[in-house]
Amino acid sequence: MLKDLVKANRSYRGFDETYQFTKEQLSAYVDLTRFTASSVNAQPLKYHLAFEKEEVGLIQSMTGWARALPDIKLPHDGMCPTGFIVICQDTDISDNLSRYQKDVGIVAQTILLGAVENNLGGCMIGNFSPDEVKEKLGFPKNIVPILVIALGKPSEKIVITEIENGESTKYYRDENDTHFVPKRKLKDILI
Ligand SMILES: Cc1cc2nc3c(=O)[nH]c(=O)nc-3n(C[C@H](O)[C@H](O)[C@H](O)COP(=O)(O)O)c2cc1C
Repeated sequence: MLKDLVKANRSYRGFDETYQFTKEQLSAYVDLTRFTASSVNAQPLKYHLAFEKEEVGLIQSMTGWARALPDIKLPHDGMCPTGFIVICQDTDISDNLSRYQKDVGIVAQTILLGAVENNLGGCMIGNFSPDEVKEKLGFPKNIVPILVIALGKPSEKIVITEIENGESTKYYRDENDTHFVPKRKLKDILI
C-alpha cells in the first residue's frame, strides 16, 4: 500500500483546471504534518493555503517549472494546478532556516502523499523568490516562504524508468507528452 502511494506520488506538472479545492481539504493535508518528526520538536513551519482562482493564479505566476525541459512550457496552457500550500518558517519560533530544511522535506512529502491517497497530486516547487512571494501574499515579517507545493487533479502520464550507473537522471518527455522519470536501481543506492 505505502509503496503504491509513494510510486503514484510523482511530480505532476499538468492538471485538470476544472477541479476545485476547498479550504477544509487543504487544511486536512496540513493537519497530517502535525504528526511528523521535527528537529528538537520545535515545529517552526507554518502554512499558507491558496484555493481561490485569483490567488492560485498569482502564485502560479511566481513559480518556475521543469527547469530541465527549457523548450517545453509546463504546465501547458489550461493545465495549471488549482491549489497551493506554501510552506513557511516562522522565524519567531526559530530563525535557523538551514536546521529545519529536513523538516520541510518531511512535511512536503506527507502533504503530497495525502493528496495522492485522494487520487490528487502535485509538485514541490523550490524555484521561486521567497521575497516576492512574501511581499505579494502580504506575509508578516516573521513568515518566510521556504517551499511551494502545487496541487491539483493530475492530467498527464508519468512513467518511472530504471537506469544503470552512469546513465542520465534527466527527466524527459516523448512526442505524446508522456513524462519519463529515470530512477537509480536499488543495488546502486545501497552502500
Ligand atoms: C525540494 C524540491 C524542489 C523542487 N522544485 C521544483 C521546481 O521548482 N520546479 C519543478 O518543476 N519541479 C521541482 N521539483 C520536482 C523535481 O524536478 C522532481 O522531483 C524530479 O524531477 C523527480 O521526479 P519525481 O518527483 O516524479 O520523482 C522539486 C523537487 C524537490 C524535491
